[in-house]
Amino acid sequence: MALVIAIDGPAAAGKGTLARKLAAHYGLPHLDTGLTYRATAKALLDAGKPLDDETIAAEMAGAIDLSALDRNVLSAHEIGEVASKVAAMPSVRTALVAAQRRFAETGKGAVLDGRDIGTVVCPDAPAKLYVTADAEVRARRRYDEIVARGGSADFETILQDVERRDARDMGRADSPLRPAADAHLLDTSKMGIEAAFQAALSYIDARL
Ligand code: C5P
Repeated sequence: MALVIAIDGPAAAGKGTLARKLAAHYGLPHLDTGLTYRATAKALLDAGKPLDDETIAAEMAGAIDLSALDRNVLSAHEIGEVASKVAAMPSVRTALVAAQRRFAETGKGAVLDGRDIGTVVCPDAPAKLYVTADAEVRARRRYDEIVARGGSADFETILQDVERRDARDMGRADSPLRPAADAHLLDTSKMGIEAAFQAALSYIDARL
């Protein structure tokens, strides 16, 4: 069976770092599915299209090239906000989930991270992780990242953003963020990335 590793969880829980380390360890391609929603948002913003028109948003989603996704280009706060709005549109999700499944099904396996990988995109994945951490811890990590890059930030504003994003992702009708019934939970509130990586390896290796 192809080794598909599904990683879900809220914003800033450490999924991305963990996904990249696991992909390198197992020699598998990695797809950060959040970037597909962000690329759709950026395409709408760049084209000056209305942000609440589902038909136009779905057309944009259908044209996303998975091989050209770049987090540096897509990291802006405004893009993240619009991404979480277009992510609530069912026909946008249908288009992006189809592309994500093709990615997962090509080759000997893949690592995908997002919000609905274990529940919707790859429900048959042999390894599923749900990575989470307290909202304060996640907001603190985001804050430290911005400050380390020489930027300035307000902790309370970041915490409110994290909580608003969680509420939107967990509260939407289509594919809400939640752990799959068979997911292995990893709470990184009190765990560094290396400890989380080791815990993920023990879980995955036991399933190979
Ligand atoms: O993870 P990231 O912040 O880049 O994701 C941007 C937005 O895309 C999230 O807030 C979420 O609403 C949406 N998303 C999603 N399903 C995924 C990945 C991301 O709905 N599998």
